[in-house]
Amino acid sequence: MLDNYKRNINYLRISVTDRCNLRCTYCMPEEGIELLNHKDVLTFDEIVEVVKTGVEYGIDKVRITGGEPLVRKGIIDLISIIWNLEGVKDLSMTTNGILLEKFANDLKKAGLQRVNISLDTLNPQKFKKVTRGGDVEQVFKGIEAAKKAGLYPIKINCVVWKSSDEEDAQEVAKYCKENDLQVRFIHQMNLKTGEFSVVEGGDGGNCSTCNRLRLTANGNIKPCLFSDLMYNVRELGVEEAFKQALGNKPKAGTCNMSGDFYNIGG
Ligand code: 5AD
Ligand code: SF4
Repeated sequence: MLDNYKRNINYLRISVTDRCNLRCTYCMPEEGIELLNHKDVLTFDEIVEVVKTGVEYGIDKVRITGGEPLVRKGIIDLISIIWNLEGVKDLSMTTNGILLEKFANDLKKAGLQRVNISLDTLNPQKFKKVTRGGDVEQVFKGIEAAKKAGLYPIKINCVVWKSSDEEDAQEVAKYCKENDLQVRFIHQMNLKTGEFSVVEGGDGGNCSTCNRLRLTANGNIKPCLFSDLMYNVRELGVEEAFKQALGNKPKAGTCNMSGDFYNIGG
């Protein structure tokens, strides 16, 4: 459905949990995070209701995010339910890859079409530092499993500090070329100060063609990553929340004081 600025809103990004098995420095605040109460996290039934309503309003593309979506219990079932909804044509996931070795096959069987995997550096020490403890070998294994399962095209999200000329980014680019992976360089953003940028090789960051809405784990529909606007599906009802998010999607993002990547899902 077209919004007030004639953008065709057909893409819904769903954060299924605010929890993550990593702690990337640019995603989580230094002092740690306060996690949502279980009762505030949408149930699968509630998420499905939002997708169904979304489809009525023109959504045909769905991405599952987190936190880390693979730590949500029953995630394979959720994928299967969403994939079987009439009108969902494209179903993908953004994951840090740590648990992909375990889940790739089941995800594919459940109907997931493709994955984006985060990988900022190939260097085990640097990876450990930027993720506050992660093991890059697990990500490599996860990528292999995704390839074997056929979750194509596989896209690698590589966050860069200043530019994709950086050594780590160049090494990731080389690895991607050799392994049949598409790479996208994402400049480190700051939601609070409104520092955002286009994604090299992706379609995010361009307000005039932005086609997306976001659903947070606790049921807020957010029309823009760089705005505090949100419409809660439990408070307003799914249909009303959806309508208001669509009707109030800003022409362009400014800044966001109330959320962070780990609970909005990037
Ligand atoms: N700036 C840019 N991208 C970020 N991500 C998380 N935090 C940030 C940030 N501050 C993105 C990464 C990761 C995805 C889950 O979210 O690209 O791959
Ligand atoms: Fe977890 Fe992704 Fe945030 Fe890293 S960027 S802490 S993997 S949600």
